[in-house]
Amino acid sequence: MNSCITGLQWGDEGKGKVVDILAEQSDIVVRYSGGANAGHTVIIGDERFALHLLPSGSVRPDIDCVIANAVVVDPETIIKEIESLAERGISLDGRLFISENAHVVLDYHKAEDKFREEALGKNKIGTTARGIGPCYADKVGRSYAVRMADFGNLEKLKAKLQTIVDYKNKLFSALYNAEPISADALFEKCKSYADKLVPFTIDTTEFLHKSIGAGKSVLFEGAQGALLDLDHGTFPFVTSSNASSLGMPAGSGVPARLVDKFIGVVKAYTTRVGGGPFPSEQDNDIGQYIREKGHEYGTTTGRPRRCGWFDAVAVSYTATIGSIDAIAMMHLDTLAGIEELKICKAYKINGKETTFFPANAEKLSLVECVYETVPGWEQELDQISDFDDLPLNARNYVMLVEELTAKPVTIIGVGPKRSQTLFR
Ligand code: GDP
Ligand code: IMO
Ligand code: MG
Repeated sequence: MNSCITGLQWGDEGKGKVVDILAEQSDIVVRYSGGANAGHTVIIGDERFALHLLPSGSVRPDIDCVIANAVVVDPETIIKEIESLAERGISLDGRLFISENAHVVLDYHKAEDKFREEALGKNKIGTTARGIGPCYADKVGRSYAVRMADFGNLEKLKAKLQTIVDYKNKLFSALYNAEPISADALFEKCKSYADKLVPFTIDTTEFLHKSIGAGKSVLFEGAQGALLDLDHGTFPFVTSSNASSLGMPAGSGVPARLVDKFIGVVKAYTTRVGGGPFPSEQDNDIGQYIREKGHEYGTTTGRPRRCGWFDAVAVSYTATIGSIDAIAMMHLDTLAGIEELKICKAYKINGKETTFFPANAEKLSLVECVYETVPGWEQELDQISDFDDLPLNARNYVMLVEELTAKPVTIIGVGPKRSQTLFR
C-alpha cells in the first residue's frame, strides 16, 4: 500500500504529525518537493522535532527516508538535521537516500531571495528567505545549477562555482549594490558538504522502483500546501514547486497510478503565512483567539500566522485537483470555546455566487465569503480518544466539512501529540 499526504490549504496543516502516525505502517517515507522552507512538527510524548528537509518519518529509527529529485536541498540545513537527530540517538546512517538529481541551495540563493523581497517592498511575496525561488529558477534556467551529483566531482564543481559566482556577483552588484561573494570560500564549504552528504546520495528513482517492486510500502510526504502550488495555487503568492499532490509523480519519479491512497491534511480553520489573498481571514479577535490557542506561529520563521474560518470552497478545489480520497482534519481542539463557528461554503464575485475556487490571485482578492454559521462547543477536546465522545456540535462541524467538500474526514487531531488523534 502506497499513500501520499499533502496539505490542502496554505501549508502548516499538520502534515508532519499525520505522516509520523501513518509512517508506522510504511517502510519508506519520501519528500518529493520544496526545501527547507517547510517546517514539519512531530511531537512524541514530551519530545518535539521540527524538521525542514528530512522526511517526518525519520524520527522512527526503522524507516528508510528518501529526498527525491524535485526537492531543493540546503546542505547546511540537512547536515544540521542529521547531526541533531544523531545527538538525540536517532541515526540516519544507511537509511537516508538523497537523489543525485536534486538541486542544491547555496548561499547566493538565500542572498537573492532576500534582495528580491526587499526590492519588492510592500508587494513582497513574504517568502521564508530560504533561497527556494532562486534555486528553482536556476534549475529551470539550467546554465547555473548545482545538483547533489556535483558533490561527487569536486574538480568539476570548483570550475562550475567559479562561473556561477562570477555571474551572480555581476548581477547582484548591478541590481542590488551587493558585496561580492567569494567562489573559493563557497567551494571550501561545498567540500565539507560533499564529505558529509555524498555517502547518502544515490539514484532514488531506481531505489523507489526496486523497493515498490519488492512490495515495500511507501509514504509520500508533501510539503507546503496545494494553494501554494506554483501552477495551481494563488500565484504569485505561492512557493516555487508543485506543492499539491500533482507534484508527487514528477517530483519522485513514481507514477500516481502506483499510489493507493491520497490523504489531504487540513486544519479545522485556515491559516496562511506570507502575503496574498485569504478570503476567510479573520483579522480580528477571532483570528487572535485561534492564533493564541492554536500556537499559530511559523515553524520555520516564527512569523505569526494569519488565521481565518475554514474555507470549503478552497478545500473542495484542492481536494479535486489532488485526487484526494480522505481528509485528515487537525486542530479541532483549537476551536473549543468559540460560541459560533463559520465555514465558507461559497464565494460571491461581482454579485454572482460560485463554489469553484478561482486560483487567480486578483480574482480571489475580490471574492466575498458566503458563510454557514453553526453553534460551537465549550468543552476542551484534548483528552478525547473516540470520535463518538466528541461534543455533538464538534461532530456536526466535522460532518458539515464532509458535506461541503464531498470527502470523508477519517483522521481528526485534538492536540499536537501523536496520541491526540482520532480515527473513523
Ligand atoms: P506542517 O508544516 O503541515 O507539518 O505543520 P506545522 O508543524 O508547521 O504546524 C502544525 C502545528 O500544529 C504544529 O505546531 C503541530 O505540533 C500542531 N498540531 C498538529 N496537529 C494538531 C492538533 O490536532 N491540535 C493542535 N492543537 N495542534 C496540532
Ligand atoms: P510547510 O511544509 C506555510 C509560504 C511562505 C510564502 C510563500 C513563498 O511547513 O507547510 P518560499 O520561501 O517557499 O518562496 O515562500 O510560501 N510557505 C509556507 N507557508 N508552510 C510552509 O511549508 C511553507 N513553505 C512556504 O510563507 O508565503
Ligand atoms: Mg509547517
